[in-house]
Amino acid sequence: MSNYHIKHLEEYFQVYRKSVRDPESFWGEVAEEHFVWRKKWDNVLNWDFNKPEIKWFEGGKLNITENCIDRHLRTRGDKPAIIWEPNDPSQPAVHITYKNLHERVCKFANVLKSKGVGKGDRVCIYLPMIPELTISILACARIGAIHSVVFAGFSSTALSTRINDSDCKLLITADGSYRGKKSIDLKGIVDEALVNCDSIEAVLVAKRTNENIHMEQGRDEWLQPLLDNASMDCEPEIMDAEDPLFILYTSGSTGKPKGMVHTIGGYMVFTAFTFKNIFQYRENDVFWCTADIGWVTGHSYIIYGPLANGATSIMFEGVPSYPDFGRFWEVIEKHRVNQFYTAPTAIRALAKRSTEFVTKYDLSSLKVLGSVGEPINEEAWHWYNDIIGKGKCPIVDTWWQTETGGIMLSPIPYVTPTIPTYATLPLPGVQPALLDDDGVEIKGNLVSGRLCMKFPWPGMARTIWNDHKRYKETYFSAYENMYFSGDGAFRDAVGYYRITGRVDDVVIVSGHNLGTAPIEDAINQHPAVAESAIVGFPHDIKGNALYGFVILKEVGETRDRENVRNEINQQIVDHIGPIAKLEKIQFVSGLPKTRSGKIMRRILRKIASNELSNLGDTSTLLNPEIVDHVIENRID
Ligand code: WTA
Repeated sequence: MSNYHIKHLEEYFQVYRKSVRDPESFWGEVAEEHFVWRKKWDNVLNWDFNKPEIKWFEGGKLNITENCIDRHLRTRGDKPAIIWEPNDPSQPAVHITYKNLHERVCKFANVLKSKGVGKGDRVCIYLPMIPELTISILACARIGAIHSVVFAGFSSTALSTRINDSDCKLLITADGSYRGKKSIDLKGIVDEALVNCDSIEAVLVAKRTNENIHMEQGRDEWLQPLLDNASMDCEPEIMDAEDPLFILYTSGSTGKPKGMVHTIGGYMVFTAFTFKNIFQYRENDVFWCTADIGWVTGHSYIIYGPLANGATSIMFEGVPSYPDFGRFWEVIEKHRVNQFYTAPTAIRALAKRSTEFVTKYDLSSLKVLGSVGEPINEEAWHWYNDIIGKGKCPIVDTWWQTETGGIMLSPIPYVTPTIPTYATLPLPGVQPALLDDDGVEIKGNLVSGRLCMKFPWPGMARTIWNDHKRYKETYFSAYENMYFSGDGAFRDAVGYYRITGRVDDVVIVSGHNLGTAPIEDAINQHPAVAESAIVGFPHDIKGNALYGFVILKEVGETRDRENVRNEINQQIVDHIGPIAKLEKIQFVSGLPKTRSGKIMRRILRKIASNELSNLGDTSTLLNPEIVDHVIENRID
């Protein structure tokens, strides 16, 4: 039996039982047998969910890039680590071998050092999906700097907030980026953001679009000449297992984004272990995760999980609709992709198109199909299964979060029988529990509740950057001695889990987490807006979309409402980014409120979703008459 690579169902149950009975020896064996440590740990695990404090492999010394790159050089030096597929299919793909990756990471690491970046310093990376993104991430890890990647679709305000929150010293960006037909002035956004960032000492700029851009004297420098002159020798910095590896921001239901902190040892072991099993990766397979590296899915399953297994991982710069809706399938044929991992929102968008976009291509290399980021609905599941997988590729519906670092609930393909819309069973070492509203664990099957974890796993985030109190409040205060995920789930008769969605004010739009409060904050700054409430409602392609109920300051029709709608959305684009735009904006004269003045979002959610027959009790509202007014004017 192998603890590391599970190959049949009986083995899964055995490994799972062992992982629960004796988590320390289970994870200790995985960590010892499959990774390179400069010094072995003193303790596998030390934990206390009340403080909360979680430490895995304490006292262990390592460098994650040694595990992701150096140790493969002897046996896999000429194997592609990364295959970069550009936005424009007429441009050649770039194969970056392990040897080449090693050289480029070392050079980049030396450039960082020459800029005064060292262990523990924060480096912000605001790059499109170009090779420099992967290389700069690994270069930070090489020298022990903490990377904070900000998705390159975020606005200048969102970027500066994140830079300031973690006091980043250096910023790595590009002149511009391509997305389908569009090119985006990335550096312009950076210049705007940096007006408000005092901590940034230097900006390194990669060339992508060759646009004529502004370079701030004494601050901005082109990256390539620095790399050309850098040495390709860079010894890895030896780090503690519990030193931070990266910060990645995720939306909360209130307040500013939370900088989730992941540490090196546990994250490495967990992402590598889950990658190997959930994709049943075999030597020489080609793995493709379509996520952007600006999200956790890209961190864990384009970079760290695959590379820790010596895999070949595709990095795709483009979008599924360019030059046409066959792009994903073309790339699968071109690179003979074996495992394909994408989001339900992409599947739904592509399923709406003619199947000719699919049948044109040879998809026979595929062995496993993955889904992540939001619940996959039954129709999308069947299309994925029948049209893409031809009924022969198991679908792994993987549930996890930025906070969990890696996949928590998922079938293991060719091992766990799958059922549409079910994330099925916990990975070894993952101990889920469902809790009721009173905080009591609901035992048995055929039950629904709030999804929690009763035991730590190595990949979990250890804190929120600079705000441990918020970490405790958000994840460990709802229920005693439990990590609370914010999601609801159902457990069926055989113990399979099905995620039912968020139970807080986070809405998942096209797989992206959006807190409604920060969007409300953004639009309330519009001079014409008095108050607003944002809720999610079901959407065919995006899964959920946003519906805004807005009270304007002016009475009467003095302003053109369509203009105000556009301005409100522009306000959101400026503060957060285009992903948070509202699908519908309804102007209302009031919002349903409780007697204590809280907006009753439950009612607004039902109105936005057109579930009018079952609004619940509205008699206790402060202003029950407003409900009819809101319903009468709802936007279909
Ligand atoms: C949702 C993405 C249903 C969930 C890796 C979670 C899912 C949030 C699934 C985390 C799934 C993720 N089925 N819902 N398979 N995967 N979610 O932090 O609500 O961007 O809490 O991490 O996405 O989103 P995040």
